[in-house]
This record gives sequence, C-alpha cells and structure tokens, in this order.
Amino acid sequence: MSREELLSPAEEPDDLPDEPGLRPRTLSEFVGQAELKSHLSVMLEAASQRREAADHMLFAGPPGLGKTTLANIIAAEMSANIQVTSGPALERAGDLASILSRLEDGDVLFIDEIHRLPRAVEEVLYPAMEDFRIDVVLGKGPAARSIPLDLARFTLVGATTRTGLITGPLRDRFGLLTRLDYYEVDDLQSIAMRAAGIFGVDIDPQGAHEIARRSRGTPRIANRLLRQVRDYALVHRDGRISAAVADEGLAFFGVDELGLDKASRAVLEALCLRFNGGPLGLSTLAIAVSEPTETVEDVYEPFLIQQGLLMRTPRGRVATPQAYRHLGLTPPVAEPDPQAELFDQAP
Ligand SMILES: Nc1ncnc2c1ncn2[C@@H]1O[C@H](COP(=O)(O)OP(=O)(O)O)[C@@H](O)[C@H]1O
Ligand SMILES: [Mg+2]
Repeated sequence: MSREELLSPAEEPDDLPDEPGLRPRTLSEFVGQAELKSHLSVMLEAASQRREAADHMLFAGPPGLGKTTLANIIAAEMSANIQVTSGPALERAGDLASILSRLEDGDVLFIDEIHRLPRAVEEVLYPAMEDFRIDVVLGKGPAARSIPLDLARFTLVGATTRTGLITGPLRDRFGLLTRLDYYEVDDLQSIAMRAAGIFGVDIDPQGAHEIARRSRGTPRIANRLLRQVRDYALVHRDGRISAAVADEGLAFFGVDELGLDKASRAVLEALCLRFNGGPLGLSTLAIAVSEPTETVEDVYEPFLIQQGLLMRTPRGRVATPQAYRHLGLTPPVAEPDPQAELFDQAP
C-alpha cells in the first residue's frame, strides 16, 4: 500500500520522513498530554508485566495532534510490530480478514480513519477485537461454509477525526477512548524547540514561542511553520530565529496573528463577505472555498469554533462578531431574526 493511500484527504503529506527523528518514538519524547501519557504508560506497563497485548485503544481528534504518532509509540513501547492501514483502504471484509490472520501475538494493528470502515468490514472487527476470532466464509451461495479462525492476541489502535461517526458496537470494544485536544502554547513551544534541535536550527525560546502561539494548537502545524520560518531566516536573515524573525517569516508565508493561514481565513471571508455571516450550509461553504466538505468540517472548522470565530447552528454555519473583527471588518448590527426565534421556541 502506498503512503498516499494511507493519508486521509484531511491530512497533508507534510510529515513525510524527510527529517527522520521528527516523529517522537517513545512516550517520554511525546510532548504534553500528561494525563493521556500517564494512563497509557500504566496500561502498557501492566500489559507487558502480564506478557499480554495491551487493550484496544481509540484516539480521536483533529488532524496533526499525534494520533498516528501514538500508535507507533505504543508498538515501540511494547517492542511489537505495527501493521498500518486505514478505513477507506479496507474495502471488503476479506481485506481485513487477511491482515488479521497474518498478525502475530502482541502486534499492533493501526487503523487510521476508522470511522470510514465500510459496515461489512467493521462487523469482522467485532469478534476479532472481543474474542480474537473471525469467521472465514468459504464458497458461495447455499454451499458456503463459515469456518472459525483463531487470531493472535493483538492490540487494535484506531484513529478518527470524528468520534460522532464511530458506531456504538465499535466504540464499546475499545478499552481506552481518548480525545486529543489542541495543545497549549507551552507544549507547542517545546515541540518547536525539539524540532529545531532535530533540524539543527538556531532558535531562541521567544522565536519558538512566536511559532507556537501561531500554530493553531497543532504540533504538525508547529513543525510546518518552523520549517517555513527556517527557510525565511536563511534567505532573508542570518539563519537565526528570534521572535522578530519568526514574526516576519510567518507574515511572509501568510500566517496571521491568530495562526490562521490563507485557507482558514478563506472560510471566514467567504462567510462574512459573500454570505452575510450566514447561516450557511456546510456544503455551500465548502463549494465557496473549493474544498471537500470533510476538509472544511474536520480541518478548518474545529479551530475556528474553538477560537469563537465560527458557530455551528442547526441552520448552518454562522460567523461571530469576532470573526468580522479579526478580518478587520465591522460586525453587522444584529437584526432580530424571526426564524431564529421560532427555532429557539421549538420544543
Ligand atoms: N505530542 C507530540 N510531541 C511532539 N511532536 C508531536 C506530538 N504530536 C504530534 N507531533 C508531531 O506532529 C506530527 C503529526 O502528528 P501525527 O501523529 O501524524 O498526527 P495525526 O495522526 O493526529 O494527524 C508528527 O509527525 C510529529 O512530528
Ligand atoms: Mg495520522
């Protein structure tokens, strides 16, 4: 399977292995998420003391927060092999069955975008996760026979950008369900400093802080912005990254004060300038910015919502007054909306 197939449309291939050590390999290298790390380390330690595979785990959250990294860390910490696949890559039940049947005791099976597993494939997972067993169907029609097949004791690690799309039966079979949230600036600063060390870039803490502050809470973006600022510093300055150089470099690459790039700003601009601030349906908004609806929903909106710039309402997306101010526009005076009132009063 090629790497491209493993990437969701929501993810950008910007963590290709050009800088080998960039992805943390151990829990101690994984910055932030203290509570999650403490839970994980107890689970992994207990499993290895019992010489068993660890419980199945599900990581949910926006792209770039470390879900794939964690799956790899779990395998490394358990000295296990990892098999990587994704929901959309598993088209037929047989695709999953053949991967499952080749797993060895203790292996980690990582299914990225697990919310996109076809239903028939998902059903193969239930007995596999619960009883380490699948039923292999041989033949077709009335002559078909189903033969139970025992599997090795493996750990399933699932990742999803959409918890809401994980079915109950699947969710119930995970021993650990975790939601990754946007990182604090301090953690992103450590991530930027760590990456700078790996890239061999001269950066001071204030420079890393400026990058961290504008990384939209996302480690992958912190690493990307660091690369951009590194290039800017090399070409336009003396290569060293201070707060001032970081600020210039980020402005040069179109990253604004809040860390919004052109694409996320385009979402707000479309809403405020072309659709009166909404409410606007997701699909219209996606067409307006020429992006797939899934990308708008999974990649751009969560941060805009978290920042109080955009709201999801039952009638569509709405820009807040802060969105207008952020774009340097005057928020419209709120007009009484009779329909909104009707909606509010609905039972
Ligand atoms: N907690 C972390 N500490 C350090 N770097 C991180 C952390 N989380 C993510 N990264 C970096 O961000 C990149 C994207 O993380 P990834 O695991 O691919 O995110 P996801 O699978 O959630 O989209 C990784 O290559 C890694 O370099
Ligand atoms: Mg990933």
